[in-house]
Amino acid sequence: MRVSRRSSVDPFIVMDVMEAARRAEAAGRHIIHMEVGQPGTGAPRAATEALTRAMADGPLGYTVALGLPALRARIARLYGDWYNVDLNPDRVVITPGSSGGFLLAFTALFDTGDRVGIGAPGYPSYRQILSALDLTPVDLQTAPENRLQPVAADIAGLDLAGLMVASPANPTGTMLDRAAMQALTEAAAAQNAAFISDEIYHGIEYEAKAVSALEITDEAYVINSFSKYFSMTGWRVGWMVVPDDHVRVIERIAQNMFICAPHASQIAALAAMDETAELDANLRVYRENRALMLAGLPAAGFTRIAPPDGAFYVYADVTDLTGDSRAFAAEILEKAGVAVTPGLDFDPVRGHGTLRFSYARSTEDIAEGLERLKIFMQGR
Ligand SMILES: Cc1ncc(COP(=O)(O)O)c(C=O)c1O
Repeated sequence: MRVSRRSSVDPFIVMDVMEAARRAEAAGRHIIHMEVGQPGTGAPRAATEALTRAMADGPLGYTVALGLPALRARIARLYGDWYNVDLNPDRVVITPGSSGGFLLAFTALFDTGDRVGIGAPGYPSYRQILSALDLTPVDLQTAPENRLQPVAADIAGLDLAGLMVASPANPTGTMLDRAAMQALTEAAAAQNAAFISDEIYHGIEYEAKAVSALEITDEAYVINSFSKYFSMTGWRVGWMVVPDDHVRVIERIAQNMFICAPHASQIAALAAMDETAELDANLRVYRENRALMLAGLPAAGFTRIAPPDGAFYVYADVTDLTGDSRAFAAEILEKAGVAVTPGLDFDPVRGHGTLRFSYARSTEDIAEGLERLKIFMQGR
């Protein structure tokens, strides 16, 4: 049967690495997972307890398309707590993960062929979702001196319909400070480009608090999720904050595309939001893991790294070690039993010389993984 041209998107390479790791495990090997970008922990206990109660109380049918009002109100309160921003809950839309948010945002904001700027390296699915919607991703090759984040000058004259940023970013963990975020919002507005800020790693910060685009302007789409800080990847629930006059547009698309985000996950997410003590304990693990990585990777021979401001990744320049990050990642999996992600996922141009290491799992796993990497590199 025929297939569309726009459906020919690239695979998400990290998923392929996960599959290779799974095969190795099925064959009896013990693999340390430094490839996956997901917490090793589950949803907060209160979240699953709230869901158990709700399931006993009655059926979990559809919710309204924009999401449970109590959850929207609780998220609005988070903006007061985290950023001192007074947010109208009507502007909060509950989505099936931030991935569902991207679909809604790109559909609401752009027409076929529109050009949307994305940082390279960056989260791979931005590019693939844009392509699948017949939009044109425009890679912004970011500079090491800008800590691999786009700056206003990078978009000058590009005639963009949209600009997508992420802070803290995947794969680098670097953040945009207030001045950098402000400059980017202004540069986007100057060419009438919609500004989209992926804030999925907010809450996982090590030195300074991440800045939300909403602290700077209401003329932005802010996309977030329960997947990372709230440790709920598989629940597929996230949110988006949109300008007042976009709420109805999004509502109509959401009604038709998804009907609603999973009801069960919305109930769990609401309860998760009050579990600060448990979530902070997860954060302490990431902080400890980050310190181990920043010492252990250079000791193993991965010397070209920069300390991440947030998230749970270290992005390493390995051009001194390989010209083929995919083959190198396969070799590390095979010989060291450590799964890592080749940079090609994040940067089609320069990613053959980079690897991403995730430290989202337990501290014992991270320590063991670093030991294995050291022994592997000594034998190379
Ligand atoms: C930067 C970034 N945005 C979005 C996502 C997608 O997250 P989800 O759809 O689980 O909310 C990820 C997942 O790793 C990510 O790293």
